[in-house]
Amino acid sequence: MRKPVIAIDGYSSTGKSSISKIIAQKLGLVHLDTGALYRGITYFALNNCLGANGEINLSDLFNRFNEIQLEFKLVDTELVMFLNGQDISTEIRTNQISQNVSLIASQKEVRDFLLDAQRSMAEKGGVIMDGRDIGTVILPKADFKFFLTASIEERTKRRFLELKGLGIETDENSVRENLVSRDKTDSERAVAPLKKAEDAIVIDNSNFTKIETIDLILSHLSHF
Ligand code: C5P
Repeated sequence: MRKPVIAIDGYSSTGKSSISKIIAQKLGLVHLDTGALYRGITYFALNNCLGANGEINLSDLFNRFNEIQLEFKLVDTELVMFLNGQDISTEIRTNQISQNVSLIASQKEVRDFLLDAQRSMAEKGGVIMDGRDIGTVILPKADFKFFLTASIEERTKRRFLELKGLGIETDENSVRENLVSRDKTDSERAVAPLKKAEDAIVIDNSNFTKIETIDLILSHLSHF
């Protein structure tokens, strides 16, 4: 029996990735956190493509895509992001990456570079993919589309605790500012902006636990 293709989009820190991961485990699907791909490219750019004033040199980055190999590998039970053989799963969560990733993700060249890899993962079905443009651009024919949202206060709290858990030093104000600024850049960019697909089911999970959000999504999937 064919397994479903599920697109989960939404604002930063609405729990898209952790929720998708648990649903994937429950249903035997492959989970792809597409945000990690954009973060991986940002990590490469910050380490290899800086101009004289310390800013990212975008044309240098575009010329060096052939040096970038991003892979998810299974380590224990976790899918871990590797860049050219190096585990960068913690590095891609730092403030520096979060502050630069939306600029990188707004570039058409970057999005084109990642497009085929994302689409080919869904060809055989059995995939849950989370991001910003999955239901609108990457997998417009997905069997199910969800769009997650939550209040900025709740999202700030969640991201702050997540970073604390990873041992990354920060404060709630900077976390909030970063979320607001990324949502704005992601929603306003010309290419594949963050947007609800017309046929997506909207879930505001401000007052839901993770488990409650998962159960709600599973209830929609039960008729597949
Ligand atoms: O999901 P996460 O917060 O890790 O995503 C980091 C950034 O990657 C987003 O703020 C956005 O700029 C970019 N992104 C995107 N399209 C996706 C997934 C992420 O533009 N499908």
